[in-house]
Amino acid sequence: MGEIVAGMLAPHPPHLVYAENAPQNEPRSEGGWEVLRWGYERARKSLEDRPYDAIVVHSPHWRTTVGHHFLGVPHFESLSVDPVFPNLFRYRYALDVDVALSEAICDEAAAAGLTTKMMRNPQFRVDYGTITSCHLVRPEWDIPIVCISSNRAYYTFSNDVGEAQMVALGEATRRAIAASGKRVLLLASNSLSHRHFTEEPELPEDMSCEHVYNHNQYLWDMRVLGHMRAGRSRQLLDEMPDFIEQAVSECKEGSLTWLIAALGFPEYPAEVHGYGNVIGTGNAVVEWDPRRGGA
Ligand SMILES: [Fe+2]
Repeated sequence: MGEIVAGMLAPHPPHLVYAENAPQNEPRSEGGWEVLRWGYERARKSLEDRPYDAIVVHSPHWRTTVGHHFLGVPHFESLSVDPVFPNLFRYRYALDVDVALSEAICDEAAAAGLTTKMMRNPQFRVDYGTITSCHLVRPEWDIPIVCISSNRAYYTFSNDVGEAQMVALGEATRRAIAASGKRVLLLASNSLSHRHFTEEPELPEDMSCEHVYNHNQYLWDMRVLGHMRAGRSRQLLDEMPDFIEQAVSECKEGSLTWLIAALGFPEYPAEVHGYGNVIGTGNAVVEWDPRRGGA
């Protein structure tokens, strides 16, 4: 019987990889965004006593209009350049994919009535959201990943249709992992509030310029984190369409809802490892440990 060893909200600002001076990334920095980076450090330490065989990540920056897509090639390597912040992120990646698990989740989602597709193009450029989240959680790159695209149902139809799709996808993911016999770490790669500044300071890591974009966003982020910390995942999803609209949340890409459903709508408290702003957006590193729910 497979198991989910943990689920994490693992946002992907490329600034964090830049600030870490990761060897794979070309640009150099003087640091910055330490609280979030220390949050990731705490998350990595927390996972140390729980080995896992694969990482399944749902990424906002692999956007697919028709259906939910899954990486289906055993190995990818290339240079990833952030289209918005090419000054911060030019990252040489090499990663392995757990194609069997990818296919199993894809099949389970299709059986649930979702439109799905395996992505078999070996020249495919893996999106920077996947790369950033995986790097920050597991910089060794020694565990194969499964990457799921973010379907555009929220944009094409409505937030409610998008949410229904992500719940079905999360539940399918949960069933496929249970049948796989594998120990799996789940990552939702999105930020929370996402209205952001449109100009960057001269020095990107000048922390005197960094703060939340507005108070409304801050209040929404704290409300949402309060739900997570109290185990109110059903209420979190009930409020999700409003959060998406009122805080311009990156949850509109579906990753967090997918994660909550895959975790079985946890009623146990999540651990917030860190919260911080990146160019005004709200980002939190949050862990759900199913052992807390008696699993
Ligand atoms: Fe993003």
